[in-house]
Amino acid sequence: MKPLQMALKRGMLSQRDTAVIFHDLDVMHARLDRIRNAFPEAHLHAVAIKANPVVGVLRSLVEAGAGLEAASWEEVSLALAAGCPPERIVFDSPAKTDWELEQALQLGVRLNADNLDELERLDRLQPTYPLGVRINPQVGAGSIAMTSVATRGGKFGMGLEETDLRALFARFPWLGGLHVHVGSQGCPMSQLVEGVLRVYRAGLKVGVRFFDMGGGLGVNYRDTAASPAPEEYARALRQACPEWAQVPLVSEFGRWIQGPSGQVAARVEYVKEGRLAVLHVGADMLLRLAYAPQDWYNRMEVLDSTGQPKSGPLSSWTLAGPLCFGGDIIGRGVELPDIRPGDWVVVHDVGAYTLGMWSRHCSRALPLVLGWRAGNLFVLKARESLEDVVRFWS
Ligand SMILES: Cc1ncc(COP(=O)(O)O)c(C=O)c1O
Repeated sequence: MKPLQMALKRGMLSQRDTAVIFHDLDVMHARLDRIRNAFPEAHLHAVAIKANPVVGVLRSLVEAGAGLEAASWEEVSLALAAGCPPERIVFDSPAKTDWELEQALQLGVRLNADNLDELERLDRLQPTYPLGVRINPQVGAGSIAMTSVATRGGKFGMGLEETDLRALFARFPWLGGLHVHVGSQGCPMSQLVEGVLRVYRAGLKVGVRFFDMGGGLGVNYRDTAASPAPEEYARALRQACPEWAQVPLVSEFGRWIQGPSGQVAARVEYVKEGRLAVLHVGADMLLRLAYAPQDWYNRMEVLDSTGQPKSGPLSSWTLAGPLCFGGDIIGRGVELPDIRPGDWVVVHDVGAYTLGMWSRHCSRALPLVLGWRAGNLFVLKARESLEDVVRFWS
């Protein structure tokens, strides 16, 4: 039975639930396990919180022994709220303040510095355990400019070619490791391998004690089963570098674990001229689909008002979101069966970088998030109430 059908049957949705997000924890854990099995040499898989910050989702990962990668101090707080021990939190923000650095060291969270100024600030705090520094491997952009981080002069880390690592490690004796993140989605496996190994090899030469390989394994949104495989990634790294994994590894995958674990069902409110459906989710949650449709794609499906899949002849549909601006369109020319008001449009593989990017434009409430585990459907996060929205803006 489809999760939406089950939620409707069990009376879990009210009239106000015009959109509902499902996160399949079975799928998420199966994907985490594949990463763990592919990289048995890693002593920590810190799942990127920004991919999906729902605390119930994070807690489930932590209970399974994973760590969490935090891109802000707020995300560190989410990790702690999810019960993550500090030594399993990796704090990676590019804009850490003095106060945040101090807090991080007091708590004992793992930390990768972004630049020389940050290393100097850390030095003044006299770290008592080894920290890392982020190195830009400078292997160039992938096919999506907005998620590329390995260009010269980029925003993140210290350029590999311009950095004298030996001098850096001599100057900061508490420096223990290197961190690299080659890019997210749109980077072919060969580019990930090249970027990771450039920094890894440079690290071996200066005697690093750990190596953080970042995330970046993409999802094939047209056919998730054909997504880049972690086993293939691990094999490619080992083949290209016999010294691979000589030092303890940390990973920070996000999209590959979370993307295919989530779907959103949005109720159809109106249908115009038999070609345009107005839905209850759009550019508020699916920002990349709405603002950069040339780079992003998600499979879609139509269910009737009871949650049963619809079939019949396909025609071309425009799928419009509920926000009050003309660009709130999440699909043009999408081939779908007949859509009627009261039906649901399901957008697949939205478990990563969707709800976590929620936009407050038009102040619509964050939808209910239901979790799925071992045949059970349960609330991971309640729908935001009208009072919550008023409180947000007050
Ligand atoms: C430092 C860092 N680590 C990990 C990730 C997760 O990347 P992905 O979701 O592509 O695996 C990101 C994403 O931007 C990142 O910036």
